[in-house]
This record gives sequence, C-alpha cells and structure tokens, in this order.
Amino acid sequence: MQTHREARPTRTDGRGETLTVVDNRTGKTYELPIEDGTVRAKHFRQIRAYEGDFGLMVYDPGFANTASCRSAITHVDGERGILEYRGYPIEELAEKSSFLETAYLLIHGDLPTKSQLGQWVHDITFHTYVHENVKKFMEGFQYDAHPMGMLLGTVAALSTFYPDAKQVSDPRSRDIQTQRLIAKMPTIAAFTYRHNRGLPYVYPDNDLWYTGNFLSMLWKMSEPKYAPDPVLERAIDVLFILHADHEQNCSTNAMRSVGSSDADPYSATAAAAAALYGPLHGGANEAVIKMLMEIGDKNRVPQFVKHVKSGEGLLWGFGHRIYKSYDPRAKIIKKTADAVFELMGANPLLEIALELERIALEDEYFIERKLYPNVDFYSGIIYQALGFPVDMFPVLFAIPRTAGWLAQWREMIEDPEQKIARPRQVFVGPERRHYTALVDR
Ligand code: ACO
Repeated sequence: MQTHREARPTRTDGRGETLTVVDNRTGKTYELPIEDGTVRAKHFRQIRAYEGDFGLMVYDPGFANTASCRSAITHVDGERGILEYRGYPIEELAEKSSFLETAYLLIHGDLPTKSQLGQWVHDITFHTYVHENVKKFMEGFQYDAHPMGMLLGTVAALSTFYPDAKQVSDPRSRDIQTQRLIAKMPTIAAFTYRHNRGLPYVYPDNDLWYTGNFLSMLWKMSEPKYAPDPVLERAIDVLFILHADHEQNCSTNAMRSVGSSDADPYSATAAAAAALYGPLHGGANEAVIKMLMEIGDKNRVPQFVKHVKSGEGLLWGFGHRIYKSYDPRAKIIKKTADAVFELMGANPLLEIALELERIALEDEYFIERKLYPNVDFYSGIIYQALGFPVDMFPVLFAIPRTAGWLAQWREMIEDPEQKIARPRQVFVGPERRHYTALVDR
C-alpha cells in the first residue's frame, strides 16, 4: 500500500476528513470518512439507487487504485523514487546491511541486535539442507525443465514434507516455516541450475555466508572446499537486498491472496513464485536480455525505439506501476554492475542498454508516460556477466523476495482486519437462458 504520509491534508474545520458523495440518480448525499488517504470501498455499499439494489461497488481491474491492506513493511514513493524497508532507505541498506540482516528487518520489524542477528544467521544456516526425497523429486524433472518451473513446483512440494506448516495460527510454526523457506530457497535454486547442466547437486556448506554458500552450491566442482569470491558474494548480497520486498506487487498479492485461505506458507510461496515468473513481473529481466540481443548493435537502438513507439512491442525493463521516476534500485544496480564487470569483464550488452536508456529518456513518448528504467533493466546484464543463463534470472529474484513474501504473509495473518481474499465482479454475461438439447443447437 502506498502510504500518504506527506500528502495528508490538514484538518481545518474540526469535522475530520470526509468525502461528500452526491448520487445524481437519487439526489441523496453521503458523507464518507477518509482514513489515511483512503475511503473504504464498503462505505459505497450504502449508496443504493432503488429498493433491493445491492449497492455501489468500486471497479478496479488490476487493483490500480485499491489498497488491499494496511502494511508497515515497505514504503514506496513512486513520484520521488523512494524505497524504504521498515523506514530504512534502500540506499543505506544496500551500502551497510547484509541480506540476512535485511530479511530479519523485514520479518521482525527492527534491525537485530548482535545476538539476535547471530541467532538468526545460525537458524537460517542450519535449515539449508533439504530432505533427500526433495532431491529425488527434483531429479524427476526433464533435463531442460525451466528452473523457475522446477523451483515453484519444488517449493509447493515442501508443504508435503512439513505438514506442521498448516498450523498457520501458531506463531512458533510460522517462525519455523519462515526460517526453513528463507534457508532452503538457495538450495533448491542451485539444484535447478545443476539439474539443467547434468551436474551432481552440491550440498550446503554451513561454514559459508548465505550468498557464498549459494555460489558454492552453484559452482563447486571437485575442489574439497569452495572459496567464494568476496566481490561476487557481496554483489549478490546487494542484489538480494534490493529484491527483498516491494510492497503489494503481483507476486506479493498472490502470496497474501493464497495465504488468506489459511493455506500453508509453502503453497502460498509457490503461488507467489508462479506470479513472479511472468514476463510483466519477475520475468522482465529475461525479456530485457532477449531484447538487447535482438537489437544486437548500439546503432540499431533508434530503430528499435521507433518500433516500440509505434505500439509494436515493449521496451522491456522500462516502466513501473508505482515508479513514475527513476527506480532507486536501478541506480544501485548500475553501481554494483561496475564492481562485477571489473572482475568478470564487461557484458557487451551493456553498451546497447546504456544507449537505449539515453535515447528513451530523451524521447517525448517515454517522458510523457513517465517511463524510466526499473530494477530489471540492469539486473539481467549483471546476472549474465556472473555466468547465469537467462532462465535462472527469475529464480535469482525469487530467493530474496521470499523474505518479503513471508513478512507480508505474517503481517496478513496477524492483521485482525484481513479476511479471505475474494473480489467482486461486474457480471456482463448473458441473462438466464435454458438448456437446449444437442440435436436442437
Ligand atoms: N514500453 C513501451 N511502452 C510502455 C511501457 C514499456 N515498457 N510500459 C508502459 N508503456 C506505455 C503503455 O503502452 C501505456 O501507453 P498508452 O497510455 O499510450 O496506452 C502507458 O505507457 C502506461 O502503461 P501501462 O501499461 O498502463 O502501465 P502499467 O502500470 O499497467 O504497467 C508495467 C506497468 C507492467 C511494468 C509496464 O510498464 C510494462 O509492461 N513494462 C515492461 C515490463 C517490465 O519491465 N516489467 C518489470 C516491472 S518491475 C518488476 O516487476 C520487478
């Protein structure tokens, strides 16, 4: 939910903040309370045109202007390009925090003390192993299965290994499932990568940091101990911080929606991962790379932009439902890219991306529609420079976002105002008609 901390009007008449609605069908006037810059949709139900009228509903495909919850986790100011987790600016967290500390912050609401952090890191580290049957389950996938399909299928299957996860109203159970999910995501993600390559799965190394261990499970070969490069380990940690949460987006909405029926968190996380898979959401960085490869050369950028403007395609990695200015995460990612390219060599697609950004940001079409690079515009270029195939990109997004999904799920469970998610519809189908036998049709 986008909060309106700065935008709240001041009270001048002592009546409180209200909205006066005149129904021109009946001439009746209604005064609806305004709370935190919002009007409750339910208040519109009292507005009826005739006896027996169901009452007015609000119609909002894609929830473009509907707050589905009250949330204290992530604040996004899309106009000013601000992103804060629990009040902390993303820039400070990306510079000073670690992914696991940020995950703790998202889940528990405050930065941990030294001992809380120690305990948290220990708990996550010691839940990284998966049951051997999970491994066998994954071995059943086709050799060329998309890693995101394997990831979300396996996360859903985890619910069968932890039947206690059904106890969603038990805080202790919620804590355990939270730790298990954050801990096991990198393990499952790395197994999908090894599976596609026909390489043996590598077990977690509990001596390593969260992201170092992930690199070890991805890339360890015959060496007895994998030593992650600290620059790469930190680059991935920063990318994970940036992707950890982003309030009520498509996948978080799926997490909350599925979780609202009291489904276990593994099933809800699988649903969230499925929502993230789509190219309009977490699959966009994959689409960005494909687009840059198709453009192929910096000189062909103007032609491509023309093609987008004529409505023949999208400029992938541009535009955002909330950000109508530069996505703050894209700025930090650009800096992280420099560190990675120094070590791994520059990605030749970077030159095309920079030119695309330059031309688009000067073009009236993109200026008018407030289309700027989003988090996915540069993340794929880094992932590719790190050696990841494009189909691993959404998986790399899903690992850190699990912390955000779980924070949102826990908040939803603990919110007494929340109910099972069940939108209304405007029925536009046929009036009642009667069944005709097949021979008469
Ligand atoms: N390229 C070209 N035109 C665009 C783009 C784009 N990337 N994004 C939006 N537009 C245009 C639309 O065609 C529309 O033009 P119109 O007013 O002439 O019809 C206008 O800008 C408004 O766009 P909407 O689609 O209404 O904006 P919405 O908020 O619904 O969509 C979205 C946001 C889905 C992110 C969209 O900008 C998009 O498809 N971007 C490309 C995909 C992408 O990069 N997704 C990743 C988002 S970040 C994330 O999920 C982690």
